[in-house]
Amino acid sequence: MACCQGYPFVAGGERVFEVETARIAYGSGAIAGLGASARLLGMRRVALFSDPAVAELPRFAAARAELAAAGCDVQTYTRVRVEPTNASFADAIAFAADANADGYVSIGGGSTIDTAKAANLYATHPAEFLSYVNAPVGEGRPVPGPLRPHIACPTTAGTGSECTGIAIFDHLPLAAKTGIASRRLRPTLAIIDPDWTATLPPTVVACAGFDVLAHALESYTARPYTRRAAALPGARPMSQGANPFSDLACREALSILGTYFVRAVCDPHDAQARERMMFAATLAGIGFGNAGVHLPHAMAYAVAGLVRDFRPPDYPAAEPIVPHGMAVILNAPAVVRRTAPADPARHRSAASSLGAAAAATAGDAEIGDVLAAHIATLMRQTGMPPDLHAVGYSPADLDPLVAGTSAQRRLLENAPCAVDAALLHALFADALGAGTAAVR
Ligand SMILES: NC(=O)c1ccc[n+]([C@@H]2O[C@H](COP(=O)([O-])OP(=O)(O)OC[C@H]3O[C@@H](n4cnc5c(N)ncnc54)[C@H](O)[C@@H]3O)[C@@H](O)[C@H]2O)c1
Repeated sequence: MACCQGYPFVAGGERVFEVETARIAYGSGAIAGLGASARLLGMRRVALFSDPAVAELPRFAAARAELAAAGCDVQTYTRVRVEPTNASFADAIAFAADANADGYVSIGGGSTIDTAKAANLYATHPAEFLSYVNAPVGEGRPVPGPLRPHIACPTTAGTGSECTGIAIFDHLPLAAKTGIASRRLRPTLAIIDPDWTATLPPTVVACAGFDVLAHALESYTARPYTRRAAALPGARPMSQGANPFSDLACREALSILGTYFVRAVCDPHDAQARERMMFAATLAGIGFGNAGVHLPHAMAYAVAGLVRDFRPPDYPAAEPIVPHGMAVILNAPAVVRRTAPADPARHRSAASSLGAAAAATAGDAEIGDVLAAHIATLMRQTGMPPDLHAVGYSPADLDPLVAGTSAQRRLLENAPCAVDAALLHALFADALGAGTAAVR
């Protein structure tokens, strides 16, 4: 056999892909099963994580009551920082060490789920913080054994963190985001109830939705899994590259976004659009949890880490942030213009799924521009800033942006083309938009 589902095999290259995800319970009202699920997993003393705003929602009180009614002793932590940092992770880890829980429940967006993953990891296998953090920022040490059971309940339609073995944080000493990646971090069960999304404000729907778009698009256009060196089970990375299974999930996620994304942002009462976005987030989370993302995410980690004074609407105003999905999508048009030549057919298929009419007739040389223009249109329709200049960056930031991105080795190796500092410079100059008009 010379290929699998259109992926040609190459000498010495991988021929096997793996599909891993958390067990998933999906559907309206699924959160009502939280208490019973916790008991089935053997949880008695539960550490429950959330952020201050989600913790105020009546649904959160109901979920906590469910856990208590099922006989769980619930220790609640509601200080999760939106866009966590090493310092906020440390606070949550200290709570978990004291709580001595035999199970974890996270109710919130990616910030909450990632914080619970880190708390579970360090409370179960104590170590210096940088031990498990991805190299080159940390030591990238393997997690030595299983973690306590973790039920993740996403309340945004975005990160897919409930399905992944990744926890992301802003490493303040380096002013760059990085993460911890291990299969052992993957939650045991994801309870995905789209009803949570009814209370999401529009900017959060937009940022989380662009995270979904980027997960699907980057996984679909990532370096094919067959181009990695063949490895035995256990040595295969979670970021395997594009593969036949992640393709299915990502194409479907992109076409759901093509129909429902703008509706979900612009009409808070459009329950159908918000439910579809939650399903797209789930699909893209499974897809990228197995394929991995690449350039827009790698660049976003530097963008978010170097934020100065940008405070978006609908997010906590206490500290400046460029929300994750916004930081990612601001780079995406520049990236697809450069990556399209590596595989014009995939970029065309992605553009068509997203609803770009011009994709059907554009030539291979134009398809990157067509996809970039369509993403820019979606950004305009959903109230995103147009470029990095609009969130406070200028050409003077190019070198630190490139340096912060160069540290994201795991993601850069998953790009469909070779990446060096010159390419990153060119991509950031393009993503700066109006800010680099003078130097272009
Ligand atoms: N681990 C992974 O695989 C992974 C993947 C992508 C992103 N991330 C990380 O996830 C984080 C972003 O997570 P996010 O986009 O889900 O948002 P979030 O958790 O940062 O929350 C964003 C805002 O929405 C509010 N909110 C959440 N749910 C709500 C609801 N139902 N109703 C009203 N308000 C609600 C929160 O209070 C907060 O103000 C970033 O740190 C990012 O790096 C992790």
